[in-house]
Amino acid sequence: MTELIPAPRSVVAGSGEVRLTERSRLHAGHGTEGVGRWLRTVLSQATGLPLPEGRTPDDTDGDGIGLRLGRGLGPEEYRLVSDRGGVLVEGGSAAGVFWGAQTLRQLLGPDAFRRAPVRRDGGWAVPHVTVEDGPRFRWRGLMLDVARHFMPKEGVLRYIDLMAAHKLNVLHLHLTDDQGWRLEIQRYPKLTEIGSWRARTKIGHRASPLWDDSPHGGHYTQDDIREIVAYAAERHIGVVPEIDVPGHSQAAIAAYPELGNSDVIDTASLTVWDTWGINPNVLAPTDNTLRFYEGVLEEVLELFPADAGPFSPFVHIGGDECPKEQWRASDTAQKQISNLGLADEDALQSWFIRHFDGWLAARGRRLIGWDEILEGGLAPGAAVSSWRGYSGGIAAARAGHDVVMCPQQQVYLDYRQDAGPDEPVPIAYVRTLEDVYRFEPVPAELTGDEAARVLGTQANVWTEVMEDQGRVDYQTFPRLAALSEVAWSALPDSADRDFADFERRMGAHYRRLDALGVAYRPPTGPLPWQRRPGVLGRPLDGPPPQG
Ligand code: ACM
Repeated sequence: MTELIPAPRSVVAGSGEVRLTERSRLHAGHGTEGVGRWLRTVLSQATGLPLPEGRTPDDTDGDGIGLRLGRGLGPEEYRLVSDRGGVLVEGGSAAGVFWGAQTLRQLLGPDAFRRAPVRRDGGWAVPHVTVEDGPRFRWRGLMLDVARHFMPKEGVLRYIDLMAAHKLNVLHLHLTDDQGWRLEIQRYPKLTEIGSWRARTKIGHRASPLWDDSPHGGHYTQDDIREIVAYAAERHIGVVPEIDVPGHSQAAIAAYPELGNSDVIDTASLTVWDTWGINPNVLAPTDNTLRFYEGVLEEVLELFPADAGPFSPFVHIGGDECPKEQWRASDTAQKQISNLGLADEDALQSWFIRHFDGWLAARGRRLIGWDEILEGGLAPGAAVSSWRGYSGGIAAARAGHDVVMCPQQQVYLDYRQDAGPDEPVPIAYVRTLEDVYRFEPVPAELTGDEAARVLGTQANVWTEVMEDQGRVDYQTFPRLAALSEVAWSALPDSADRDFADFERRMGAHYRRLDALGVAYRPPTGPLPWQRRPGVLGRPLDGPPPQG
């Protein structure tokens, strides 16, 4: 009956049901008005019922819905009671009420996820039940790479809704990379005029001979970003922007060649990169580059205010995969090393990242970066996205830094989902739905205090081989549903997790995803149009090496 995903802490089923009818009212108590607006909108679209405002949360005549702030609950905790009095959702804050409202929507059945009624008979009912619930982790995230393939604004809003349906609360937007700069920066218009599109695109892994010769591009205007951030905030989701430096920056260098190592290569001849891999064309580690990115970040801070949502003080600075060849060859970079009294190029990268740590801290914000920011010494206030396995996260937690666990071996959703030959553009190791379900974000070797540094976890969706929304959906779902349960639910140790029960509940959840129009990978494998015959991937065999 209550095939909820992510699994709540406790469900006690009753025997009757609350029937929603033309007469049913929805009352949103003080502090829950925004949740009330959201719930009335989605439920009246799906059911056709008007759900007019009630007078009090208890004024439900046995067939209404009440929302209110409740005592004794943590901020994201909620209690949902459906009984002869109607449905009452109480939360420790509006966020808790919102997550309870998501559970209520699941209890109404898959058609509650549609945008208009599909049946005339009505028959909307919430089973009598008491659900008590709250999250295991505070950071429950999804990283979308909108740089490699641009996801238009409508797609991002849709993903925010999909995240909300899974009680995820942090959208990490990877906004810049070698292959595209996606964010309007008013003082540097060429970042998007030049940097937001490329003339052609490699189809498949970089070793593939295929090209798409249509130009690819797009960017978010500053108002698009304000809309995305506000839309997320209404859903109790925070957006963490990523501006990736000093590697992964060829699109920026193509727009402003002085940002590159122009004493080593002809940076003026660089274009936005049209293929994939780790790129040697990195930023010049100069004061000029620092000033430029301070200018970028000043606009970023205005667009992503610190109080917009969970973890909104964070700004992600990337820091991953910055090859040092050009710095070794550059007189300018070498002079910088000796002027600053640094040991080597790793220390130079550390200097670069530390600069932004201090710069952000002085503005009341916090830096987060990929685990390479540990190399050459971690900036004092920085948090780490642990992607090259657990080890970076362990080292960071032991040094007293906050950590988001997102090891590529576990939660990189670009990795293939099955070993079969029909998997589209198969990348790296097989990571099945069950593998993601058994992912444990807190390594056993951490002490209690160290483990408390693990803010949570996120899945990362890198889009080199995902050219459109359908491909993103295919890689992301159903595995994001498993990740949501890992992030939200108090699951036992990996080996003891009841994957059979999760799969059983997925039976209901696939119907919800169908109603939401999600092009997930069916359990039986890709549908014909989800295959990409002839497009080269890069499958790797065996279990992923752990780091
Ligand atoms: C990464 O996957 N380069 C963070």
